[in-house]
Amino acid sequence: MDHSTMNQDEMENEHMSHDEVVSLNDSTGENELKIPSVLEHDDEKGSVYTVRAQKGKTEIFDGTETVTYGYNGSFLGPMIRLEKGDTVKIKTVNELDEETTFHWHGLEVAGSADGGPHESLKPGEEKVIEFKVEQEASTLWFHPHPEGKTAEQVYNGLAGLIYIEDDNSKSLGLPNEYGKNDIPLIFQDRTFDDKKQLNFSAAMNDDGTIGDTLLINGTLNPKLAVNKEKVRLRLLNGSNARNYTFKLNTGDSFVQIATDGGFLNKPVTLKEITLTPSERAEIVIDFSQLDTENELALINEDGSILLPFEVSDQNGKVSEIPGEMNNFSITEEEKSLPVTKKLELFGMMDQVTINGKKFDPERIDFTQQQGETEVWEIYNKPDEMGGMIHPFHIHGAQFKILSRNGEEPPENERGWKDSISIHPDETVKIAIQFKHKGVYMFHCHILEHEDNGMMGQVKVE
Ligand code: C2O
Ligand code: CU
Ligand code: CU
Repeated sequence: MDHSTMNQDEMENEHMSHDEVVSLNDSTGENELKIPSVLEHDDEKGSVYTVRAQKGKTEIFDGTETVTYGYNGSFLGPMIRLEKGDTVKIKTVNELDEETTFHWHGLEVAGSADGGPHESLKPGEEKVIEFKVEQEASTLWFHPHPEGKTAEQVYNGLAGLIYIEDDNSKSLGLPNEYGKNDIPLIFQDRTFDDKKQLNFSAAMNDDGTIGDTLLINGTLNPKLAVNKEKVRLRLLNGSNARNYTFKLNTGDSFVQIATDGGFLNKPVTLKEITLTPSERAEIVIDFSQLDTENELALINEDGSILLPFEVSDQNGKVSEIPGEMNNFSITEEEKSLPVTKKLELFGMMDQVTINGKKFDPERIDFTQQQGETEVWEIYNKPDEMGGMIHPFHIHGAQFKILSRNGEEPPENERGWKDSISIHPDETVKIAIQFKHKGVYMFHCHILEHEDNGMMGQVKVE
């Protein structure tokens, strides 16, 4: 947005989003939570899938059609379940009337399959990518990444989930009945205009588009029916810019079992968890002692009701969560590695930069050797207004957080991550290794910041 054409009121209005975030309307709980369908193989033999980006109409509000984007449907996308060890082919097809890309967020694939802005498909074009799944069980996601258009396309509905399963995830005895006690939850806030349409250019804010209406898996006013058992929620902050701090309305605790890229070693008991855009967490809530009278709900920090639960009188299966789930560790060697890359995140609105520069598709900012672990130090430099949290993400790899401001990260961040919230004046150190070659993006996952150039490129060779 051009600041020179704005009057004082508009300036103040725009700056409001900096500190004071519009709160979400409470979910009235009148609609059953939608569960994304599971994407089927194209044929019985191989792991060949087709993913089509499409435009359509969706009845988000009763009796009204909203123009939306989706994968293999009109809104959001299916869940793609992959197994470690699988060789997977995905045919991606652009059926939109604008360019798009297919980016696999959190997946360790070659740069040419990663779907960054260089992999743009024109309307009608298709591309087949192939990769072997070599990373551990986790909840990843996919979304478009065309240069300058990511925020709008995600806002219109392009986002889907990827589950990776492995021997460990299948043997732990965690809740794993998809849609019953293993529930995907994609949190997205939106603003609808008076015709109940998603008008991105009207809603758009350069510091991140925030809405007053929450959709979970595309469901307005959702509720979730559960049995009396332990239930696993796979939380994805799929919003363009909003941060969530999830809590239970009773103040009770829950456990976190997984970060972005895998299981924690042990469940971590929490009363709340904050996720910035693109971060995931798997949590388990114990409903086994509750009854139908109970009014448990997932709420946001400010008290707004995100997801009310409806407990049935049926007993479920899962009563225990294992105490040991993984063997994630940070080695002494990783701890003693010198910092080889320094990044400084700075700015707000359309004045956002990394190391003083805006994204240039022709410029490679860093190089790194395939298979080599390096330590990146990322600093969020405050501005006169204090600055803001930037959720920082790197493509093509899962990394380890070594420290936040020199301190060990909290227990629930001692696991694989691909996105990390960085507060104003905070310095984080991460250890990162790329398994494949190619050019990968790193950027702020406030999608408007990313589109405004808060992105750079690392070439792995
Ligand atoms: Cu969700 Cu460039 O990423
Ligand atoms: Cu990504
Ligand atoms: Cu940012």
